[in-house]
Amino acid sequence: TVGNSTNILWHECPVGKLERQKLLRQKGCVIWITGLSGSGKSTLACALSRELHYRGHLTYILDGDNVRHGLNRDLSFNGEDRAENIRRVGEVAKLFADAGLICIASLISPYRKERDACRAMLSDSSFIEVFLNIPLEVCEARDPKGLYKLARAGKIKGFTGVDDPYESPLDCEIVIQQIDGKCPTPKAMAEQIISFLDNNG
Ligand code: PPS
Repeated sequence: TVGNSTNILWHECPVGKLERQKLLRQKGCVIWITGLSGSGKSTLACALSRELHYRGHLTYILDGDNVRHGLNRDLSFNGEDRAENIRRVGEVAKLFADAGLICIASLISPYRKERDACRAMLSDSSFIEVFLNIPLEVCEARDPKGLYKLARAGKIKGFTGVDDPYESPLDCEIVIQQIDGKCPTPKAMAEQIISFLDNNG
C-alpha cells in the first residue's frame, strides 16, 4: 500500500537521473527559498535563475504565488492547506531535480516540519535551504502588494508574521540577511547562492 492506493508498483527506466545529468552537464537539485511575504523570494528566484541560465544551467522556478494559480488553486492559507501546498511543491521539486534541473522553489513555507519533510524527500546534498532573513518591519514597510496593510486592518486573517506563525530555519545551508541595515542586491544574493553551489560541487 502506498498512500491511499494498493497494488501499485514502481517502474524503473534505463534512462535515469545520472544519464540526464550527464546530458545536461549539471546536478539536479532543489534550492528552497523560505522567508516572509515581501522578503524578496520571487525577486531572488528570478535573479538566481537568470545568473545560472547565463552560466549555461537549466533551471525552473516553482513560485508559491504562481503554483497557487494552477496545481494548488484548491488550497487556502489555513495551516492544513499551507502544509499541503509545501508538500506538493516539494514533490514537484523532487521530480524536477530528478529530471536533472536546478529547481528553485520560492514559498513562504512557514513551517519547519514541512520544510524538513521536503528535505527528507531528497538526498541531503541536493536540498539547499535558503533563509531570506529580512525582518518583518522591513517586509511590512515594503508591502509591495498592500497585503500587510489589509492584514493589520483585519481584512486578511491569518497573515504570516501578523497573526500566523513563521518558523525560521534552525540549521539551513544559506542565510541571506541585511548588512549594515541594507539588503544585498538580488544579484549579490544570487551570487552568494552560486558560490555555495560552486563550493559544494
Ligand atoms: S505558504 O505559506 O508557503 O503556503 O505561502 P505561499 O504559497 O508562498 O504564498 C504566499 C503568497 O500569497 C499571498 N498571500 C498570503 N501570504 C501569507 N499569508 C496569507 N494569509 C496570505 N494570503 C495571500 C502573498 O502575496 C504571498 O506572496 P509573497 O510572494 O510571499 O509575498
